[in-house]
Amino acid sequence: SEEEMMNMEGMDAENGHASHTNPLELNDSTGENELALPPLVEPKDGIVDITAQQGKTEFFDGIQTNTYGYNGSFLGPVIRVNKGDTVTFRTKNQLSEPTTFHWHGVDIPGEGDGGPHQILEPGESEDVKFTVNQGASTLWFHPHPEGATAEQVYKGLAGLIYVEDENSKSLGLPDEYGVNDFPLIFQDKQFNEGKQFDYQAVRNEDGTIGDTMLVNGTLNPNLTVGKEKVRLRLLNGSNARKYTFKLNTGDTFLQIATDGGFLNEPTEMSEITLTPGERAEIIVDFSEYDASSNVALVNEAGSILLPFKIDVQKTNSIEIPRTLNDYVVTEEEKNLPVTKKLELFGMGEMVYINDKQFDMNRIDFTQKQGETEIWEIYNKPDAMGGMTHPFHIHGTQFKIVSIDGKEPPVELQGWKDTVAIEPDQTVKLAVKFNNKGIYMFHCHVLEHEENGMMGQVEVI
Ligand code: C2O
Ligand code: CU
Repeated sequence: SEEEMMNMEGMDAENGHASHTNPLELNDSTGENELALPPLVEPKDGIVDITAQQGKTEFFDGIQTNTYGYNGSFLGPVIRVNKGDTVTFRTKNQLSEPTTFHWHGVDIPGEGDGGPHQILEPGESEDVKFTVNQGASTLWFHPHPEGATAEQVYKGLAGLIYVEDENSKSLGLPDEYGVNDFPLIFQDKQFNEGKQFDYQAVRNEDGTIGDTMLVNGTLNPNLTVGKEKVRLRLLNGSNARKYTFKLNTGDTFLQIATDGGFLNEPTEMSEITLTPGERAEIIVDFSEYDASSNVALVNEAGSILLPFKIDVQKTNSIEIPRTLNDYVVTEEEKNLPVTKKLELFGMGEMVYINDKQFDMNRIDFTQKQGETEIWEIYNKPDAMGGMTHPFHIHGTQFKIVSIDGKEPPVELQGWKDTVAIEPDQTVKLAVKFNNKGIYMFHCHVLEHEENGMMGQVEVI
């Protein structure tokens, strides 16, 4: 919203990063480059190798940018697993600094979660073995080392995890990878004059933003789609920027999934807002367009994020089912008392949860494995109004019970692991952990997380 943009600008000036003419405007994609598709990998004998490494990536013709990636120079693969499978993520750190491997949204024992306690030093590897215990969803992974998460993600460490199950396989949704089912990882970056990422130079304590959009690591991307229904899996993989995605034509699309699973019914939307860490799956029907249609995914303010090219030879006759899932917030859950209260407060380096900043020994709460509790999170405004905090809990998918006492909008009636909380808003969540261990909860503006807006719950 306009108010937020003004707040963001104010903060930017305050932090001395107002040197870019308008750091909030994203450059339009010229559409000159074909969108990169991350390699799709599946476990072989139950094992997936994932190596964090440094490399060089050619975003600009003939120029090498120093980057990080998983199994490559920038970003990582899409790892596809099935519910019920036991898989081993064979992680390896080939960086010259410590890192961790965090599985965002994955229902996994605390010891495998990859939070700041599970550091891998350069050269170390570790097997993370677990049984996939959750429904079809689009999850992701990224590093989480204390004090370096934001910079490592910024340099390129992020990948996707697709969970499939009996339901997702039987619905008949578009599911041909790179044909009618595309991952889209949105990240804004600021390149310096030498076309490098100089994270420390552009770091903003309230969230680092850039003027240049990369989608799946492609600068100025375009995506060729059929004259048909296409599924797009959107990840806001930015450190801080929030996107409101819409079509430049004003046409609607169907949202079919939230962070952690399908909505009960496809929901017609004209736009969708994702804060850092959040995902959504949408179906765009391109059958009404043709080769000369000028269709693009744009951001709220109008910046062109991803222009589409229509291949009119390619069509499908997929019908999107009316019912996709059986998600419900039960009466019992609605009536449970609040047993955990959190207050998010502050800006810049002074960010707090319940008046405290993160440290490795801080355990805020305990919760029993398998028991549902109601967490109430309040975003306390400050004199400048405050800002949106995307609140994330590790190791679980939760249900939004209410937002300011009201039932959440239909597009938030589904499994979530990250929820945007606006200033002065109170959100109630029904939270259950299926595994034991220590889990983080934090603001997913990565600089806020790093500045201490993070706590820990121990599941016993
Ligand atoms: Cu996606 Cu603790 O993070
Ligand atoms: Cu925040």
